[in-house]
Amino acid sequence: MVGLLLVTSTTPPSLPGLQMTPVHPRDRADAPWWRQAVIYQIYPRSFADSTGDGIGDLPGARAKLPYLAALGVDAVWFSPFYVSPQADAGYDVADYRDIDPLFGTLADFQDLLDDATGLGIKVIVDLVPNHSSSEHPWFTAALAAAPGSPERARYLFRDGRGEDGELPPNDWKSVFGGPGWTRVVEADGRPGQWYLHLFDVTQPDFDWTNPDVRQEFLDVIDFWVKRGVAGFRVDVAAGLVKDQTFRDWGYTHDQPGPDDERLATAKAPMWDQDGVHEIYQVWRSLLDGYGPPDRILCAEAWVHPPERAALYIRSTEFHQAFNFDFLDCPWRAADYRRVIATSLEVCDSVGAPATWVLSNHDVVRHASRFGLPVGTPRPNGIGADDPQPDAELGLRRARAAAMLMLGLGGSAYLYQGEELGLPEATALPDDLRQDPVYIRTDKRQLGRDGCRVPMPWVANAPGLGFGPSARTWLPQPDTFADLAADVQEGVAGSTLELYRTLLQIRRERELGLGGLVLVDGYGEEVLALVNTGRDDADPTLVLVNFGSDPVSLPPGATVLVASGDLSDGAVPADTAVWARLAG
Ligand code: GLC
Repeated sequence: MVGLLLVTSTTPPSLPGLQMTPVHPRDRADAPWWRQAVIYQIYPRSFADSTGDGIGDLPGARAKLPYLAALGVDAVWFSPFYVSPQADAGYDVADYRDIDPLFGTLADFQDLLDDATGLGIKVIVDLVPNHSSSEHPWFTAALAAAPGSPERARYLFRDGRGEDGELPPNDWKSVFGGPGWTRVVEADGRPGQWYLHLFDVTQPDFDWTNPDVRQEFLDVIDFWVKRGVAGFRVDVAAGLVKDQTFRDWGYTHDQPGPDDERLATAKAPMWDQDGVHEIYQVWRSLLDGYGPPDRILCAEAWVHPPERAALYIRSTEFHQAFNFDFLDCPWRAADYRRVIATSLEVCDSVGAPATWVLSNHDVVRHASRFGLPVGTPRPNGIGADDPQPDAELGLRRARAAAMLMLGLGGSAYLYQGEELGLPEATALPDDLRQDPVYIRTDKRQLGRDGCRVPMPWVANAPGLGFGPSARTWLPQPDTFADLAADVQEGVAGSTLELYRTLLQIRRERELGLGGLVLVDGYGEEVLALVNTGRDDADPTLVLVNFGSDPVSLPPGATVLVASGDLSDGAVPADTAVWARLAG
């Protein structure tokens, strides 16, 4: 038997013949809520519709709060519902202080927030500081004003290159495809300056060296804190500050860099520049100044390597940052072992909780990703002509992956519908696609519509109960009916009941605060770890079998929950269990 190396004072039961490697200490018992919170992402236009226009809204979401309370989440994060022309589904904000009529009113938001508070659910909102909509009054003023004016200085207007300024100022590309610069027509009718948009042409980037911009976002944060929000998910958090030389880069967003397999993001002149941190330090002080309870900042920062990501979650900046390495991890035990250990190491180095996530509104749903051949790079959308994911295998793995994620210490984000096991919609008619990515890449990339399809609530209702009419802004695949919430509710073994059970056990056993010990000895294709939970005397074994041979549990282990049926007490392929080790 191998001796146990433990991070905490007492010891969990020994596992004969297995090697135990502590990888993460237990969090303190009085840790603030966000260090272990399970947060549910609501994508408003696709969650629940109250009007029958086929687009989800705030009253629709409000009506579903009891469902979320029963699921057992601690908080919800709303993707943007602000006034917006919806060129990028609301990530193009024209008024940061009001709700788009599509989604309701400020009064609707207040009602929702009050109900959520009554149910013990916190509300986090999206903050989009990298760019506004081109219909934001600041941008229309900038277009009307002259080059060099204070109005233009809030955005990144530059003169073009070439004899008549006919070439863009540099070679930066849009993340959504195509050039990152667009030329404007000046008041005299002549072609004039260019403005930078790292995303769609309707999403001009702010100039974060401008004090107006800095002050504006402090005011916007204050506006929403005063309305009672529990924090902000910060969009494109690594993009606000650009290399001030505006040098050419030579590469595009998704093209690897010259000298390494995976580009260190900071090498790109528009991502992960050191100057962003100062902005977030100011935001953090502002938020801390409101006193308890903590209002949080969660970074959407696609940053590499993980050591750079850790800078964002120092105690003076963000509380959380999505762990996209976990989201992108291939379905292999060794890869998860590496990603989990590295993530915990870098998070622990700055005292931050890990923030696990498997899906969101920007990526192919994981129930479909896991149904593609292992190691397939994550596609930007899946179409009817593409190789189709194995739905059954994908769901089986998705359920096991959820058990892995929720069995880890730290915080976790769920994307609406994953608790139903929803797959990606892979047969959307191309003419219905709305993601600007599809258009800007000349249809080479299908984009993100397939993970944004309206939720199925009631199998036998028009529009699967999405709203009071049959309308849904994107068509729901036929397979959604069998996955509707009402079909799964109360059904033992359904994905919905699995998630409910997981969240309940996680809460009872305080797995979010638990220390983690990796267990080696089950073989290369098994990932096993012990979560010490609230009590060393009653730890939880989290075991996922990525291989094909069933794996026996240690003697005396009692299964708490499993993602699939066990075979003679052993854990079969692509299945996870949580088990008590105490007698
Ligand atoms: C973030 C959002 C994405 C949006 C982009 C531009 O990546 O998650 O949906 O399109 O920023 O705002």
